[in-house]
Amino acid sequence: MKIMEHQKTFRNDALKIGPVTVHPPVIMAPMAGVTDGAFLTVVSRFGVGLVTSEMMSAEGFRRQDPSAERILAVPTRVSVPVAIQIFGADPKVMAEAARAAQDHGAAIIDINAGCPVRKIVRQGAGAALLRDPDRLLRIVETVKGAVSVPVTVKTRLGWNHNEVRVLPLCRGLQNAGADAVTLHARTAQQSLSGAADWTWIGTVKAQLSIPVIGNGDVTTPSDFHGMRQKTGCDGVMIGRGALGNPWLFSAIAQQFDPDGVRAAQPTWDEFLWTVQDHVRLFTREKPKAIGALRKHLVWYTKGCPNGSAWRYRFMGASDVPGLLQLLDGFVSELTASGADLMRCKVRENGTEHP
Ligand SMILES: Cc1cc2nc3c(=O)[nH]c(=O)nc-3n(C[C@H](O)[C@H](O)[C@H](O)COP(=O)(O)O)c2cc1C
Repeated sequence: MKIMEHQKTFRNDALKIGPVTVHPPVIMAPMAGVTDGAFLTVVSRFGVGLVTSEMMSAEGFRRQDPSAERILAVPTRVSVPVAIQIFGADPKVMAEAARAAQDHGAAIIDINAGCPVRKIVRQGAGAALLRDPDRLLRIVETVKGAVSVPVTVKTRLGWNHNEVRVLPLCRGLQNAGADAVTLHARTAQQSLSGAADWTWIGTVKAQLSIPVIGNGDVTTPSDFHGMRQKTGCDGVMIGRGALGNPWLFSAIAQQFDPDGVRAAQPTWDEFLWTVQDHVRLFTREKPKAIGALRKHLVWYTKGCPNGSAWRYRFMGASDVPGLLQLLDGFVSELTASGADLMRCKVRENGTEHP
């Protein structure tokens, strides 16, 4: 019944960021060390409207850092629009990186104005820009002048609870030419702790004419609808909820396209194929990063019967063949258990949110 209501409300609406249509209006968040080409290729098959790369250092791009090269290669690998996120403090260097991202097929350039990691803040980038709004606005204006694709900014409420200046900041971003803003409804000091305060997303949405994308603590389809209903935001960005769980996107997409192919119930065979392919793509992109690959396998076990025992086994695997062998055993057990994949991976009820 709840789902039927959502279908009526949301079936035909789309998020437009400049000329880019984001349908359904659900976006994979940028996550350093996670949203690489392999991860985004997998997620893009499950009905997400837009995906975001790991953050790319503008200075790193200038130095021809291999990690920047790897991030720039993502758009050619992924079948949905890709936003490349860039970070830095120098408007000119940011503009150069943005132009390269556009040349490599980015549909959108996203500017990081929220990362609280010390290494980034020390450079005057990420969340440091919350305390240096003039610089942030100069970055947006300069990047806008350098590319023809839309430019978006991902930001937070403020540096800390005593410095919540998100409303004037977002108005400034709009005036500087930003095509949309994404608001992670926490302060930089909170990092990922405490609950995201969605009321700020509604406040910002009510004041801006450009699209506002809400972010923070969306892990179920109910959360997705709850955030939209409570805040009126134009789109929803999901981070941690999608780890090991592209089925969250198919559950949301299905509500926008109930008759589409995604309406079919996925099986454990599909699960196996999805994870095997993720391993194959990952190994091609980052052949030596076994630790990072193990993390993905661990995330895939979340919500599954006997998941904690399997997590422990996956953590002990020392090479890719070992991980794949364990994966076979894990999926055989799941198949025999008769568990329903969607029930394991997609909870119906979201968390109550302010
Ligand atoms: C491992 C990890 C890496 C992240 N990397 C980035 C990043 O590169 N750029 C960025 O803007 N936010 C980054 N974030 C923040 C997420 O994009 C998102 O704002 C945050 O996780 C809250 O959303 P969620 O509750 O849906 O996870 C990262 C978060 C995590 C957990």
